[in-house]
Amino acid sequence: MNDKPKTTVSVIKADIGSLAGHHVVHPDTMAAATKVLAEAKSKGIIIDFYVTHVGDDLELIMTHNKGVDAPEIHELAWSAFKEATKISKELGLYAAGQDLLSEAFSGNVRGLGPGVAEMEFVERPAEPIVVFMADKTEPGAYNLPIFRIFADPFNTAGLVIDPRLHDGFKFEVFDVFESKSVTLSTPEEMYDLLAIIGTPSRYVIRRVYRKSDNEIGAVVSVERLNLIAGKYIGKDDPVAIVRAQSGFPALGEVLEPFTFPHLVAGWMRGSHHGPLMPVPQRYAKATRFDGPPRIIALGFQVKNGRLVGPSDLFDDVAFDKARELAQEIADYMRRHGPFMPHRLGPEEMEYTTLPQVLEKLKDRFVKVEGEFKARKPIVETKMLTHE
Ligand code: F6R
Ligand code: MG
Ligand code: MG
Repeated sequence: MNDKPKTTVSVIKADIGSLAGHHVVHPDTMAAATKVLAEAKSKGIIIDFYVTHVGDDLELIMTHNKGVDAPEIHELAWSAFKEATKISKELGLYAAGQDLLSEAFSGNVRGLGPGVAEMEFVERPAEPIVVFMADKTEPGAYNLPIFRIFADPFNTAGLVIDPRLHDGFKFEVFDVFESKSVTLSTPEEMYDLLAIIGTPSRYVIRRVYRKSDNEIGAVVSVERLNLIAGKYIGKDDPVAIVRAQSGFPALGEVLEPFTFPHLVAGWMRGSHHGPLMPVPQRYAKATRFDGPPRIIALGFQVKNGRLVGPSDLFDDVAFDKARELAQEIADYMRRHGPFMPHRLGPEEMEYTTLPQVLEKLKDRFVKVEGEFKARKPIVETKMLTHE
């Protein structure tokens, strides 16, 4: 057994209002959150912290020794968001307090609106981590890159070459509709894994463990705001933490999947598919058609809980081509206007504002005699009739 103390990294985020629409966090709200976390650090509640943003999402990166789901840490994040919301309201920022779905805190921010990714581990002598933060998309957006990082030998050479990775990884996949999870091992259950995570709106990779010793390798926030609230609030703008090097994929293997700006759900009104564009922090704002969906990656070394860094990992010409391709894909997708597959399919649109529009048409449909009828009602019918 290892007696070394464990370090917890908690990344908790919320959209508490933004500047000129839903596009970028205001610096004064970041300052308000920073003040709360600085006080907590001086009291020893947390060891270290870093406050940042991606688009309209305020991101709190914290380290401590209290484990995952610690009420004290969740309450701290909640009060940082509350203080930031006060400023947001004072400045008349747009959608002030948007993601704080409840007035009162009740022990855990999960289910109250904020997104949460936390992992606890015994620090290795040198502990590199990458914190990914995305705006205008959903948790399932990480399915493809996380799969490629931990299970695709064409991405991660270490799976083939490095004996410490060669046994493979275990993926805990969460069904966001049923609140159930299943754990699948790669490489042997790779096809089963792909059979479910190819539906990223429902099945989300939540955690990844190294098979040889169960060490945690990655964690993703799985909160889906619209499902929690039961109505359209915005997308869920997910965060993820990935450990790199020495028995985990190398930093370059962790970043490599983002050279392909894959299509994700989100973008304008949370209702469109668009490319996930990797950007440096300075471009982390959603402008064109409220997007395109963006992701930033900050690299830290964690030393006795101290966050050393960050390095702005997508601030590199090596990702210029990915950004160019993302722009081209954005142009191509935009030309579809309100048509699928740019606009999301009917199942996903149920959680947007479209049903309110369709409601008006409901009574205008008239039965056509002699025409066939599908045995099972299709989703559009469900939306129109609210069956
Ligand atoms: C998507 C998002 C924006 C808004 C859009 C409309 O997650 O935040 O694309 O959905 O700007 O916003 P409202 O309805 O506030 O005018
Ligand atoms: Mg917003
Ligand atoms: Mg956002």
